[in-house]
Amino acid sequence: MSGARFGVLGSGKGSNFRALAESFKEGTLSCKPVIVLSDVENAGILDLATEFSIPGRFVSPGPFRTKLAPEAEEELVHHLREAKVDFVVLAGFMRVIKESLLKAFPGRILNIHPSLLPDFRGLEAWRQALEAGVSEAGCTVHMVDAGVDTGKVLGQTRVPVLPGDTAELLHARIQVAEHELYPRMVREFAQGLGLIERVVKNLIRN
Ligand code: GRF
Repeated sequence: MSGARFGVLGSGKGSNFRALAESFKEGTLSCKPVIVLSDVENAGILDLATEFSIPGRFVSPGPFRTKLAPEAEEELVHHLREAKVDFVVLAGFMRVIKESLLKAFPGRILNIHPSLLPDFRGLEAWRQALEAGVSEAGCTVHMVDAGVDTGKVLGQTRVPVLPGDTAELLHARIQVAEHELYPRMVREFAQGLGLIERVVKNLIRN
């Protein structure tokens, strides 16, 4: 699919978004980020959107801590549709995705998680890995479904846990791997979408 468009949702500093924006800024690539939405008003990811001249928007999340209020999720869907996105990329988005978004983009929401799923779902996965004493950690790109970090795995990168690691050191090592894995997986996903669409068009034509 040439020129596939994706929206990015994030709550934090946005280093994964930076990796994506840098990777996709050359015009010849298969897809590009067209909007950044955040549930955190002063999130670094919104400053980065400005830096890359991509429209960024804060959407007030409502009263809950781990999910969006239904009207906030509807608002996200509205902005994503208005930006004509083909799929959605979560980059450090700290709320569980519910029905409105899942229904609006079925099979079209990706996430990156800082562990080798299915191990260590949930928060601070790198700390969970360190505390469990494993010798290898890593990151996973997966499809988003109604569970927490349960969707189909698209790809993983392994990194070693080294003697003397702190949670911060291990997370930093995992993030280096994330910044290589996520753009590669997003590009493959966009190419896969193009394939499906061409097959459907051919079926309709014949
Ligand atoms: C990353 O470690 C990612 O795996 C997790 O949240 C963190 C986001 O970091 N989902 P950043 O905002 O992209 O730097």
